[in-house]
Amino acid sequence: MADTTHIYIDEASGSDTTGTGAEDKPYQTLAFAIFTHSANGSPVLRIRKDPNTPYDEPTQSAVKKAKKGAEGLEKKKKKADELKAREEKEGEEERLKREKVLEDSKKIVLEEDASLDKATRVKLFQLPEYRQKRVRVFGWVHRLRSQKEIIFIVLRDGTGYLQAVLSGRMSQTYHALTLNLESSVELVGTLQEVPEGKNAPGGHELIVDYWKLHGSAPGGDDAFTNRVNEKSDPSIQADLRHLVLRGETASSILKLRAHLLSAFRETYVKHNLTEVTTPCLVQTQVEGGATLFKLDYYGQSAFLTQSSQLYLETCLASLGDVYCFQESFRAENSHTRRHLAEYTHLEGELAFITFDDLMSHIEAVICDTIDILLARPAAAALIKQLHPAFKAPARPFLRLSYVDAIKWLNEHKIQRPEEDADGNTIKDADGNDKMVDHAVGDDIAEAAERKMTDIIGTPVFLHGFPAHLKAFYMKKVPGSGAGRDAFTESCDLLMPNVGEIVGGSMRIADSEELLAAYAHEGIDPKDYYWFTDQRKYGTCEHGGYGLGVERLLAWLADRFTVRECVLYPRWPGRATP
Ligand code: 4AD
Repeated sequence: MADTTHIYIDEASGSDTTGTGAEDKPYQTLAFAIFTHSANGSPVLRIRKDPNTPYDEPTQSAVKKAKKGAEGLEKKKKKADELKAREEKEGEEERLKREKVLEDSKKIVLEEDASLDKATRVKLFQLPEYRQKRVRVFGWVHRLRSQKEIIFIVLRDGTGYLQAVLSGRMSQTYHALTLNLESSVELVGTLQEVPEGKNAPGGHELIVDYWKLHGSAPGGDDAFTNRVNEKSDPSIQADLRHLVLRGETASSILKLRAHLLSAFRETYVKHNLTEVTTPCLVQTQVEGGATLFKLDYYGQSAFLTQSSQLYLETCLASLGDVYCFQESFRAENSHTRRHLAEYTHLEGELAFITFDDLMSHIEAVICDTIDILLARPAAAALIKQLHPAFKAPARPFLRLSYVDAIKWLNEHKIQRPEEDADGNTIKDADGNDKMVDHAVGDDIAEAAERKMTDIIGTPVFLHGFPAHLKAFYMKKVPGSGAGRDAFTESCDLLMPNVGEIVGGSMRIADSEELLAAYAHEGIDPKDYYWFTDQRKYGTCEHGGYGLGVERLLAWLADRFTVRECVLYPRWPGRATP
């Protein structure tokens, strides 16, 4: 508490807002001290220029000047008090008026006019066929604007958007006056072209003659836009993904995703591949034990699948060339913008092909699918909305061997962090990663790969990776060496902005070679008897690939991260909602 007989002022470090006038919490101005304490008699005033000078009595002229200042402050306060009182009174009047309007509004009950034309129930995407007709639509209030006695709604039903106009009694009901964003409603009215110069989705608007609230949504603190908006912290957006999905961008990405899946299916019909549905619960690994999610399966150990490849291989002799869309799971502790713990894996497998055929097939599948999308007006519009600069990639895709890629990286001074024998990065004297040139045998890490793809700027097939960098099942390039020192008939397809979107290879077709590969990997061949049998009963040269659907979509829709390209993304630590 301030000493009521001694009031302190420090003109440099004091404060008129947080100060109390105490010696350790002085005011900043003499005028404020006088103004604040004028009712307390005549307190002893002690003032100093700054904390380095001692407190002293103020000079008479300073007090005289400060008194004038204090009078000014007094006047200001009086004015503010009057304004506040007036506002409170008006606020109260306003509140009472609003309460009365709300009370009266409860008496307005809307009824559908049976004498009008019968309204046809339609989804919003069908509206262009219903101009000048009476329609009944259902959806959610996506945007809301009240203007005098008219309410404008932009309705959303998942198939499109519609501007609706509520006027007269339509805008005076209790539900109209208390309507909030994201409420669900039924609107009935006549669809009219919007007047020249006005904008509305589809160029038309619904002149509502009857409407009904189906489910209200809160306003105030709990209002939709207070819970989540574009500026919300990413972790809040992740927690509220179920609400984020209602936004235009998120829903457009997911719609494009649906088009993408169906376009792929159309492409596979064209290329004569049969769709199969593979199991998620498995007891074998494909891409190395380090990234397996393990689980207890009736007392046995089992995993969530990393890839359906091995199962697809078993289909070749039964169904011919096959593909699947299946969730793959990777227990990688990767927090990058292109890694998910669960992703949708599009995998294909083809029999009696060469490595060259495999790369040509991957390229054809991707390009045909893009062509289908661009030819579909709805999909093309989504691509244009999300990625205005998108252009279908030119064919053929560049093919760059792994060895040439290492040369390219060194020529472009793209280095990698040096590691010690245990795989830890070595630091330089300043504590930064020590960078060195790439050498044949090195893994091309994500950062280098990304730089390379961004510089090249077009899709690139990197092929012929050393066996020791790749999975056990890959076929060696004939004559390229033995065991894990050899190179493999493997390829990664890299896209600008995203990096690797496809990993594929020819497979070991020979039983003995496969058994040796198991042994090298420390895999018990017993568990893989069914996979080995493919080589025992009529083996063939074959190959396949896996494509990360979210990565392809991130490229197509120009998204920063694959997390935006999946309904409910999973990454380390996140499995909700
Ligand atoms: O290169 P990967 O690991 O290859 C396989 O699983 C093969 N068995 C596929 C096959 O030949 N049938 O994965 C293939 C693709 C990658 O190129 C990438 O697009 C995607 O799957 N992918 C991921 N996508 C998101 N998050 C992850 N953690 C991913 N891991 C792989």
